[in-house]
Amino acid sequence: MLEYGQILFEQSDVYFGHGTDNAWDEAVYLLSHVLDLPPNADRSLLDNSVPVAEQNKIEALFQRRINERVPAPYITKQAWFCSLPFYVDERVIVPRSPIAELVYNQFQPWCGNEPRKVLDLCTGSGCIGIACAYAFEQAQVVLSDISQEALEVTDINIQKHDLSHRVTAIESDLFSGFDSRAKNSFDLIVSNPPYVDANDLAQMPDEFSHEPELALASGDDGLDFTRRLLKQAAEYLTQRGVLVVEVGNSSVALDRAFPEVPFTWLEFSEGDSGVFVLTYDQLQAYAASFN
Ligand SMILES: C[S@@+](CC[C@H](N)C(=O)[O-])C[C@H]1O[C@@H](n2cnc3c(N)ncnc32)[C@H](O)[C@@H]1O
Repeated sequence: MLEYGQILFEQSDVYFGHGTDNAWDEAVYLLSHVLDLPPNADRSLLDNSVPVAEQNKIEALFQRRINERVPAPYITKQAWFCSLPFYVDERVIVPRSPIAELVYNQFQPWCGNEPRKVLDLCTGSGCIGIACAYAFEQAQVVLSDISQEALEVTDINIQKHDLSHRVTAIESDLFSGFDSRAKNSFDLIVSNPPYVDANDLAQMPDEFSHEPELALASGDDGLDFTRRLLKQAAEYLTQRGVLVVEVGNSSVALDRAFPEVPFTWLEFSEGDSGVFVLTYDQLQAYAASFN
């Protein structure tokens, strides 16, 4: 079944990039869902035969993936981030941020001490903030998003991970829904906001059309949201706070827009890029640029 799926995917136009990057893994992902196998299933299972009823179900998922070009996690309603399972559907994007690696490393060396309060701005499924709650066991975590629909999914994941005593979600366009007590309260603000520029948006493979456009598009150069964030972030950080933001390949436009600002661009073991760090002090020092 796996070899069959692999060949089907290789002969089709499907785009990989929503949890897997090749045809074999995509087949494993969908087959594991039907057979209820964990991601680390033992390879000895490959000797078993698949009952006909399951074969038919697996084939139907392979065909749906190809015909509708729907990302596999929307079919299974599950995605993995930082080795944690998250419920997903078309109300949120499929988690795939390289920020996962920073969470694994507890944002070292940027967060010297464990942050007491963390904000995941533009939270979508809640994956980054909820993973932060696992990484920082004492921290209070706030998840925010402008989309009420996305926040319905966020809530499902807060419940799924049994974290409602420490993780809360609020509806907010950037910081507009925060009250004054939130000012200068976050030791870490982490965000994977919309950052796709108009040109890239027009050329994205069909799979991305299943994701909310609000989660991807951010104006001509992809920086509409990030510009607003840079203006306001310092107001919500503590003096030892740091801002970590993903902008993908809009990093080129960001460096060009603010040549004087010393963005620290992070390197990732899987070769990803496009995530910067700025400290509270740097945001203050360059406030005039951001304004
Ligand atoms: C790229 S998705 C990231 C979701 C999640 N953090 C992840 O990594 O999977 C961006 C999210 O930002 C939200 N968003 C867009 N504009 C926003 C705004 N002005 N204020 C707050 N959230 C916004 C979208 O609804 C979407 O859920």
